[in-house]
Amino acid sequence: MATVNAGILGTGHAYPEGILTNADLEKMVETSDEWITSRTGIKQRRKAAPGEYTSLFAVRAARQAIERARIDPSDIDLLICATVTPDQILPSTGCLIQAELGANNAAAFDLAAACSGFLYGLTLANTMVRCGQSRLALVIGAEVLTQYVDYTDRSTCVIFGDGAGAAILGAVEEGRGILASRIRSDGRFAEQLYAPGGGTRLGTTPETIAQGLHFYKMKGNELFKVAVRSMADVSREVLEEAGVRAEDVALFIPHQANQRITDAVAGKLDVDPERIYSNIAMHGNTSSASIPIALDECVEAGRVKEGDYVLLASFGGGVTWGGVLIRW
Ligand code: UT7
Repeated sequence: MATVNAGILGTGHAYPEGILTNADLEKMVETSDEWITSRTGIKQRRKAAPGEYTSLFAVRAARQAIERARIDPSDIDLLICATVTPDQILPSTGCLIQAELGANNAAAFDLAAACSGFLYGLTLANTMVRCGQSRLALVIGAEVLTQYVDYTDRSTCVIFGDGAGAAILGAVEEGRGILASRIRSDGRFAEQLYAPGGGTRLGTTPETIAQGLHFYKMKGNELFKVAVRSMADVSREVLEEAGVRAEDVALFIPHQANQRITDAVAGKLDVDPERIYSNIAMHGNTSSASIPIALDECVEAGRVKEGDYVLLASFGGGVTWGGVLIRW
């Protein structure tokens, strides 16, 4: 069967109005703007207000992507919502987004791969478009992480923020679009970033809530090392597969986890620092939303031009990681 190349036809992003600054956090836990800035690069993050939930931001981001791709929601036949903070357990947030958008001809579902969720989604959608199973796919990364953050735990509460990003994927001419992609995971490191409660193993009970078991727990400095190694390795793999040199990458968007992680990965790959995008100062770590938000900001700022090589790399809980190389 003849395959077509899949590329990004439109992008969008959205986030809550509410801002939580380092100064706000100084009043909540034993921390300082100096520590947060020097150890993470984060100055502020967006925080959903009570009553604001994941699909609200996902729908806003998706509408923008749909408009920019100049398509009709009813033409979307695949809708993937990457999230680890769904609106509710049943049905999927993807189906709730589908109804809001009127994307009634899509197969909609959620994908849980933490911070790598958007690249997992892109990889699946790419395969579906290439083999002719899908014509227009909507891939979203959306999170309201702050509902799972323990604001008495300084090692996690300074990191996470909320938001959503979206992309429409469809057929593009040969030599363009997604040139290579890789997704990976290693469940042996599951407890490096996890929420023990709230599932079927340790359900939501007054006891699990009292013990804060529904909140994220993170072994930050162990994850740090794995993150740097895996993002650098997977980036090299996709570059090698496509026969593209790191120095020819026009824009590198790593998952926005920590500025020091970004700097370390960039150092290993030999990508010119000016070509690396970072918005961590403004958004913190928004998990699956971080790459699509950053990508859309780059599109809006005119930082991606036709023919550019754009490299995306992610790492997250699971642990999961992935790399996608695009010729814009
Ligand atoms: O999204 C993908 C998954 N997540 C990641 O990839 C996160 C990766 N990890 C990180 O970004 C970093 O490990 C953190 C930012 C979470 C932590 O930075 P670190 O440099 O690894 O710090 P650490 O955990 O080694 O802690 C160093 C010290 C400790 O104090 P002692 O034991 O040396 O006295 C911590 O208690 O810093 C302390 N600390 C803080 N101090 C002030 C931890 N958090 C804070 C804080 N403010 N917010």
